[in-house]
Amino acid sequence: MSKQKTANSPSISSILRIAGDIDAFAALTDGGKGVTRLAYSRLERAAHEHFANEMTALGLDVTTDAAGNTIAELRPTEQGDLPAIGTGSHLDSVPEGGRFDGIAGVVAAMEVARQVVRDAIPRQRPWRFVVFAAEEGARFGQACNGSRMIAGSTTSRETYELVDDSGTSMAEAMRLVGLRPDDIESARWEAKDWFAFLELHIEQGAVLESRGISIGAVDAISGSTRFSVTVLGQASHTGGTPMHLRRDALVTAAACVTACDALARDPQHHGTRITVGRLTVHPGSITTIPGKVEFTVDIRDVDSQRQRRTAEALGEVFGRIAEEGSTSLVVAVMGDTSPVVLPEWVTRHVIAAANELGLGFLVLPSGASHDSQQVNRIAPTGMIFVPSRHGLSHVPEEFTTSEQIACGTDVLLRAMMRLDGAR
Ligand code: GLV
Ligand code: MN
Ligand code: MN
Repeated sequence: MSKQKTANSPSISSILRIAGDIDAFAALTDGGKGVTRLAYSRLERAAHEHFANEMTALGLDVTTDAAGNTIAELRPTEQGDLPAIGTGSHLDSVPEGGRFDGIAGVVAAMEVARQVVRDAIPRQRPWRFVVFAAEEGARFGQACNGSRMIAGSTTSRETYELVDDSGTSMAEAMRLVGLRPDDIESARWEAKDWFAFLELHIEQGAVLESRGISIGAVDAISGSTRFSVTVLGQASHTGGTPMHLRRDALVTAAACVTACDALARDPQHHGTRITVGRLTVHPGSITTIPGKVEFTVDIRDVDSQRQRRTAEALGEVFGRIAEEGSTSLVVAVMGDTSPVVLPEWVTRHVIAAANELGLGFLVLPSGASHDSQQVNRIAPTGMIFVPSRHGLSHVPEEFTTSEQIACGTDVLLRAMMRLDGAR
């Protein structure tokens, strides 16, 4: 379903404020290419602080919960105790990621807050502007950590079990930046406090760009299953060991990587995406046969049964490959999240807002994970996508113009105004 009309353009001042906010967050990086601001790092906290300062200066009430989520609230202008509406996204990044993933949605939320305060837009409900902590699964394997905690999907105990590749547990990382892993149950949201939530995000694919459409209304979000695999062979001399006597862990791992690709390309699995994004070879010497290889597998799907069946099938295939190579392997689940179908009534408000502004829209699913998946367990949630140049994301080349974000922000504000008045 798509529609194109003559669009209302966002104001130049809004575009400039958005560009300024994007630059301000991009400056908070650990160096290297693009932006590196990992989950539960000091830089992530600095970004939350910048958001909190801006919202406090606007007159909003700002709190940070035990999980590190930052919530800025604008009280209603009218009497009553209706449940809230909210918007927001995340400010952490993958290693050497881009300037827009998550940030676009936070910047859009900040701009909505500014416009609502400046124009004294009347409100019947509390409006909450939220930055979720630690959305990226790149550090601890599990994604959407802050939002999982508000939804009750992660327990305190699990924060001790999730570790990064330097061996730091999520609990320890949280404590190092002043958060309270033992108290995350206090961060839980209650459904009765919420009417609806919206997240603006870059598409991270090229569908909108290829169709020349400025707004995506998301109907479903892919799930993900991630595991780490350790292959054990026998390290030995590369010259002295004849080929028929080898137990090369990398040969097994390479066959597993190829099997992942083949399985995802099998027409029966149409729509499944499987990626091996990290692979470490031990001892990593030119003249030693690899004795141990560790790699990660990331399975994404909008179909929950297919996602889990794929994970099981891969486990079996890996076992056979290891046996054929006289190696052994151990598979450990790092994260598992189901796909989510977003409530149509919220998406309809996004579509109506785009229509009111004369902006073309497309209803499409999200291939990436989002905090909205978790928030939707508590508050009916919708997502607005804005285009990604060449579809690139999780890389320094990630790019969306400030004008495209501003168009999405206009849709976000309109949709929130509609939700504020909806019953
Ligand atoms: C979040 O960016 C994801 O990995 O889908
Ligand atoms: Mn994101
Ligand atoms: Mn991301």
